[in-house]
Amino acid sequence: MSATAVSNTQAKYKLDTEEKPSLKYPNEKPKKQQLFEETPLVVAVITYIGYGVLVVFGYIRDMMRLYKFERTKGAKEAGRKGFVPLYSDFESFYTRNLYMRIRDCWNRPIASVAGAEIELMERVTEDYNWTMTTTTNKTKVINMGSYNYLGFGECEGLCTNQAVSAMKECGVSTCSSRMEIGMSSLQKQLESMVARFVGKEDAVCLGMGFATNSTCIPSLIGPGCCLVSDELNHASLVLGSRLSGAKVYVFKHNDMVSLEKVLKDAIVQGQPRTHRPWKKVIIVVEGIYSMEGSIVKLKEIIELKKKYKAYLYLDEAHSIGALGPTGRGVVEYFGCSPSDVDVMMGTFTKSFGAAGGYIAANKNIVDHIRSLSHASAYSAAMSPAVIQQIMSSMSIIMGEDGTDNGQIRLKQLKDNVRYFREKIQDMGFIIYGHDASPIIPILLYMPAKIAAFSHELLKRGVAVVVVGFPATPIIESRSRFCLSAAHTPEMIDKVLVALDEVGDKLQLKYSKMRPARPLKLDESIKNKFKYE
Ligand SMILES: Cc1ncc(COP(=O)(O)O)c(C=O)c1O
Repeated sequence: MSATAVSNTQAKYKLDTEEKPSLKYPNEKPKKQQLFEETPLVVAVITYIGYGVLVVFGYIRDMMRLYKFERTKGAKEAGRKGFVPLYSDFESFYTRNLYMRIRDCWNRPIASVAGAEIELMERVTEDYNWTMTTTTNKTKVINMGSYNYLGFGECEGLCTNQAVSAMKECGVSTCSSRMEIGMSSLQKQLESMVARFVGKEDAVCLGMGFATNSTCIPSLIGPGCCLVSDELNHASLVLGSRLSGAKVYVFKHNDMVSLEKVLKDAIVQGQPRTHRPWKKVIIVVEGIYSMEGSIVKLKEIIELKKKYKAYLYLDEAHSIGALGPTGRGVVEYFGCSPSDVDVMMGTFTKSFGAAGGYIAANKNIVDHIRSLSHASAYSAAMSPAVIQQIMSSMSIIMGEDGTDNGQIRLKQLKDNVRYFREKIQDMGFIIYGHDASPIIPILLYMPAKIAAFSHELLKRGVAVVVVGFPATPIIESRSRFCLSAAHTPEMIDKVLVALDEVGDKLQLKYSKMRPARPLKLDESIKNKFKYE
């Protein structure tokens, strides 16, 4: 489902209810808005034409390969009679003829810590991106792509020093699963710290965020259960839902009318064929959606879950550490009670600059996951150095290191997000998402602009992540900017000047809601960072 689909059900420009004083919560200050500007018609038409041209050329090239006018460099289907093709036809067509042209924009090798700046290794190709060779040249650029929200992705300072000490004391790995002899005292401390941080009775921590979702959901629900999932949920949630064997129903992204309808229908109908009541009904949502920058409407979801006696599973991968006055995520941001969220999931790869994931819940749920989740039972326990990195960064966020460093980082992230968002909107770019989200997608739409945007910004010393189909709807290609507390005002200004130039050059300032205005920055700053 796309953001456009969301906006189709509403007015032309969709401003979420959060902007207006809510009828349900009249005393709440109306402040933040969550917007999805509709794709301008002309842009949509040109984008489809662009893809059309690429597809036509793709078929011509495929024909040339068939008749040996052009050498086939990709893997070929063996074409064995009676066998179905191994790869889906369109997927391999798309990869061969569209993705290959601009493959250099992805998988760039890095040679440094993924901090506010990053060193990219140069790659060269002599066969139009089919093969690439890494040279010894490195370029230092501003990193706008990593999920390093609080700036803990660093290779010096307290967290790094403590992680190194933990590694010296306990080694890199426990070389065993927690059920055998891999459970370290460090991991026990981490689990109780996480439970305390998010306000739950207990927590279990696992070595990988993806595996936390994909293996814990199947340990919680199974056949005869009903799982109601936001259509933009992350692949790990989708995989976990499918592996569980539960019946999965999907509702429109962050759309409470759709959620209520899906819940009501599922409960009225009961299980397929037998119409027996469901064993369990569980709603699965994320805190911040990483492709849209939208924030879950938690209060409304909690009301619905109570009304329909469902459970709530909340994935806070992007919101934990990045939202809320003390970094406790979307629950704190909306002033909700952690007791209203049955299962709180999160990852350590983003705000904590580490690795792994957690599930925080009541003790009996957590104990159940500890013994039944495949990632807990069959995978090695977490690395001591990684555990220490998480504990050190979490104690800084909580102020338990005796400094206000955590508060400073949280404030810096908030200021950076507000400043960057305002300037981007002023310049006339179409962006998606919530005002408080550190993820800011800028819409590029046309396939040719995906690569041009990435290349032009790289020339100006800025590395960005660009995303296109199939990760987004076909006409909604975008670039996803991730703000960090580690970005200095000077870095952000440099990115803004670069964006202003590239936006004009590639004609990306499409917004009708906020028509383009000149970038409001000191002339001296503009001149300092000017490229052209
Ligand atoms: C919402 C969500 N859940 C889970 C994950 C998986 O986490 P990890 O990358 O730590 O394995 C991600 C990854 O980006 C995510 O965005």
